[in-house]
Amino acid sequence: MSTDPGPGQQRRDTLAVRGGLMRSQFGETAEGMFVTSGFVYGSAEEAEATFKEEIERFSYSRYGSPTVAMFEERLRLLEGAEAAYATGTGMAAVFAALGGLCAAGARIVAARALFGTCYTICAEVLPRWGVEAVFVDGTNLEAWREALSVPTTAVFFETPSNPTMQLVDIAAVAELAHAAGATVVVDNVFGTPAFSAPLQHGADVVVYSATKHIDGQGRVLGGAVLGSDEFVRTVARPMIRNLGLAMSPFTAWVLVKALETLDLRMAKQAANACAVSQWLEAQPGVTRVFYPWLDSHPQAELARRQMTGGGTVVSFTLDTDQAGAFAALNALRIVDISNNLGDSKSLITHPATTTHSRIAEDARLALGIEPGTCRLSVGLEDPQDIIADLAQAFAACCP
Ligand SMILES: Cc1ncc(COP(=O)(O)O)c(C=O)c1O
Repeated sequence: MSTDPGPGQQRRDTLAVRGGLMRSQFGETAEGMFVTSGFVYGSAEEAEATFKEEIERFSYSRYGSPTVAMFEERLRLLEGAEAAYATGTGMAAVFAALGGLCAAGARIVAARALFGTCYTICAEVLPRWGVEAVFVDGTNLEAWREALSVPTTAVFFETPSNPTMQLVDIAAVAELAHAAGATVVVDNVFGTPAFSAPLQHGADVVVYSATKHIDGQGRVLGGAVLGSDEFVRTVARPMIRNLGLAMSPFTAWVLVKALETLDLRMAKQAANACAVSQWLEAQPGVTRVFYPWLDSHPQAELARRQMTGGGTVVSFTLDTDQAGAFAALNALRIVDISNNLGDSKSLITHPATTTHSRIAEDARLALGIEPGTCRLSVGLEDPQDIIADLAQAFAACCP
């Protein structure tokens, strides 16, 4: 028999359903949805003390509210972070972290293989305010070393990256970044809280689009920033509060419930993704398969070192042009065409013409995104049905 962990030291599965739970005087079993913009004070003195931060209580939902606090606390416990702050979208989380760190004259070093809008924040938005942005091949430690040989404010990357599943060695890059004085911010959307814990490998800050796997059922937009108490209090919180990046109580209610099943969904979706990736590798019409848990992945050893599963997204390149790839997508009967990911329903997109269409063609090709490349977010369906659907679609496009 294992020992009783005691209050405050529960294990992960327990935290997923009970972490952060705050019950009202009505004793509801499920987490309550507190849909209110403001809160009532017992006296003018209490209001004054709240604004002076002499007492801690909810004052206004742009600053925080009970259901949002439950989501933040549950995610914080699962991530093993000191502090968490929720945001209305994933991009709000990315901007709260990077915009909060960088002032005019700051320098940011980022991996080139970024989700399109994250790339825009680094390459266009922050430079407008006098921030220098430098991009490197995230898989190349020498490139990181060179870029981080001068003082730097922030380092930013996704691992695995969207859509070609390039990994960044979190521990090695964090060491270089810290020597350059930089704060390491990791977008852990593809890693998911289930398979990747960047803070345990030396990263300082994790950001999420909770829209993806955390909701996982295609309902709401949300995000979160996690890190040290000091980072969240002094860097992320002022950005989120003052810019109005807050999460709504309804979104938080959906997401706090979704966290209860996150690990279960991720285990099944990753097992499905493994099966689909292995099947894809055996198809003559498929020239490349990108999935970190395949032995053929160029960074398979690193994947096993810093992840506990390969995730839910498999990208692959069909031996065809854009028209052939479109024909394959259009022939699918179960898998839906959608640029979202992490959903319980399998979703597929053609990155070159959707998520990564704003990236110049040569840069896209350098990232491995070809006209025949498709990104498949594997859902909770029976893997044999997903495979059968892909097989009939491939037969339709490349007979
Ligand atoms: C890796 C990554 N980061 C951030 C985002 C932005 O998230 P949101 O759409 O919730 O703002 C996305 C969305 O696709 C993403 O894939």
